[in-house]
Amino acid sequence: MRIAFLADIHGNLFALEAVLADCRACRVEGYVFLGDLVMIGSRPREVFQTLEALKPLAWIKGNTDGWLEEIQPGFVPSSPQEAEILGLFEYGARHLDEAMRTALSSKPMAQRLDLGGAPVMICHGSPCSYSQGIRPGMAAEELDACLGPGSFRELVCAHTHIPMNFIHRGVRFLNFGSVSTPTEGGHHASYGILDLDARRDMRFRQVPFDLEPYARDMKQTGFPGMERVLRRYAGQA
Ligand SMILES: [Fe+2]
Repeated sequence: MRIAFLADIHGNLFALEAVLADCRACRVEGYVFLGDLVMIGSRPREVFQTLEALKPLAWIKGNTDGWLEEIQPGFVPSSPQEAEILGLFEYGARHLDEAMRTALSSKPMAQRLDLGGAPVMICHGSPCSYSQGIRPGMAAEELDACLGPGSFRELVCAHTHIPMNFIHRGVRFLNFGSVSTPTEGGHHASYGILDLDARRDMRFRQVPFDLEPYARDMKQTGFPGMERVLRRYAGQA
């Protein structure tokens, strides 16, 4: 069985559709979503609907999903940057209905799965916090603190958008990168496939998506983060 791990889609339906076409070509049979559905993209509602239709094996809450619950009516931003970020969250909240927001809010922050007879921990940031980024090169004590209680064979996380694959204290740490926004700039989607029938082969996939229709869509929908997104794809932010 081949399982796709998708993370940090951030409302980018165009990147998600490119990934799902690649998944079909790779004969993926199951999906796991590691959180961060909203922000940085114009179509959070359609991304939610698309994910829901996939009936994922697991769906984790990311920090931007959690922040949706924390927006307080009447909050006054104290800087232009805060105002910009608030605008992105208000856009996300407006485009998800109450049932979708409730469903997102009920997702777990971490979950232990049995995949192919081996325990796998999945989370957005770390098993301890959806905001705690795990990065290659972290000190052993920092990695120990990220692991939390329990034992597992693989830890699959997201959040940093930085692909990684290393072993620490017998646990393989994996991050397959971001569907919407690769850290190295450019407009391609990163995700991963775990092949349980081929000795747990891990494939890091990169799939280009067309930027022009996405830019057009951001303009048509009035998405407030268009300039920020285009700067990021040009490697300027
Ligand atoms: Fe995140």
